[in-house]
Amino acid sequence: MQARVGSHGSLEDSKDSVVATRTNQSKALPLRLLQLFGLFLALCFAFSIISIYSVRHFGIYSVVTTVKSNFVPCNEEPLTLDRWTKPPSNLLHSMSDEELFWRASFVPRIKKYPFNRRPKIAFMFLTKGPLPLAPLWERFLKGHEGFYSIYIHSLPSFNAEFPSSSVFYRRQIPSQVSEWGKMSMCDAERRLLANALLDISNEWFILLSESCIPLYNFSVIYHYIKKSKYSFIGAFDDPGPYGRGRYNENMAPEVNVTLWRKGSQWFEVNRRLALNIVEDSTYYPKFEQFCRPACYVDEHYFPTMLTIQAPNLLANRSITWVDWSRGGAHPATFGRADITEEFFKRVFEGLQCRYNDQPSSVCYLFARKFAPSALEPLLHIAPKVLGF
Ligand SMILES: *[C@@H]1O[C@H](CO)[C@@H](O)[C@H](O)[C@H]1NC(C)=O
Ligand SMILES: *[C@@H]1O[C@H](CO)[C@@H](O)[C@H](O)[C@H]1NC(C)=O
Ligand SMILES: *[C@@H]1O[C@H](CO)[C@@H](O)[C@H](O)[C@H]1NC(C)=O
Repeated sequence: MQARVGSHGSLEDSKDSVVATRTNQSKALPLRLLQLFGLFLALCFAFSIISIYSVRHFGIYSVVTTVKSNFVPCNEEPLTLDRWTKPPSNLLHSMSDEELFWRASFVPRIKKYPFNRRPKIAFMFLTKGPLPLAPLWERFLKGHEGFYSIYIHSLPSFNAEFPSSSVFYRRQIPSQVSEWGKMSMCDAERRLLANALLDISNEWFILLSESCIPLYNFSVIYHYIKKSKYSFIGAFDDPGPYGRGRYNENMAPEVNVTLWRKGSQWFEVNRRLALNIVEDSTYYPKFEQFCRPACYVDEHYFPTMLTIQAPNLLANRSITWVDWSRGGAHPATFGRADITEEFFKRVFEGLQCRYNDQPSSVCYLFARKFAPSALEPLLHIAPKVLGF
């Protein structure tokens, strides 16, 4: 019995002891877990305190961003300001007019430039093909790099071949056929403006033809334009049949006959007016539909539109001299035999105009029309009469 009891007892005992040890173990285990868990919580707490403290005081975030920016994929250039301040390296983009005009209409809202911006003149040549007077322009521009840009719109079929040393090298923009007196002419001018607007440093935009020449040296012209309060676009109210007579009442109310203007196509506009012209979708459809020959849209669209939108910015006169005295539908063209000192005396003599609201005798900075045969005598006479 005892044995049994004993054995039993011992069994019991051993059983008990096993149970006892089990109970002892099961009591000790949660305790250790709790301790571990407590330690873990304490560590977490300490770590979060440390992190918050470090972020607040040492700006750990900047370390994180620096690390991130080092991991730019190798095919992407890091973004720098140059992307917006440097002119496009290639003028032959593949944008449609709609895409180009949209892009060209971007305007920074912060007026102060965060870089050293030197305002440039954009000389925009609207041509059929070659530029026979290019050597004269080359001489005019020599030494003034960084103060001008050049853009050429020619017939799309024309392939320009300027040497890489020329200021005209690769300055052709994607062009389309444009016809005198039609909207396609204004389209070409808007295309020139839009391409030139892509260079944020272009501040003044001058439209020229292949038969234009400069009448002063670059410094005189640059300062005349820079110091002017107004942009030089011809805009006058002609009550006759070739002025108001071309107005179509269907243009109202956007265009009122009282603001109908006429002017030569050869303009100088500043960046603000260039944007007005490129972004216009209010007046364009009116002119496109209701100003067709014998309403010559290139003589009315910009002068009228800008007179409505920004009359106080316009000088209302052109800076391109032209001779209508020979009569006819086209102005006089001057060739080899015309180019004399006497001729230029006639061009400069007796001029009167207003410059910055003051009387002035410097009224024209450019002149047209000059034939290719005029080039040689012009190069010869330029230092004496034109100052370059
Ligand atoms: C440009 O012309 C003006 C006036 O004719 C003259 O005073 C000036 O020295 C010329 N500038 C240069 C760089 O030749
Ligand atoms: C043009 O403007 C004048 C006032 O300047 C106004 O009397 C006239 O009704 C307008 N004409 C049209 C067609 O809107
Ligand atoms: C140009 O004409 C507009 C009206 O068409 C006028 O408001 C503006 O003052 C003129 N500009 C100058 C310089 O006289």
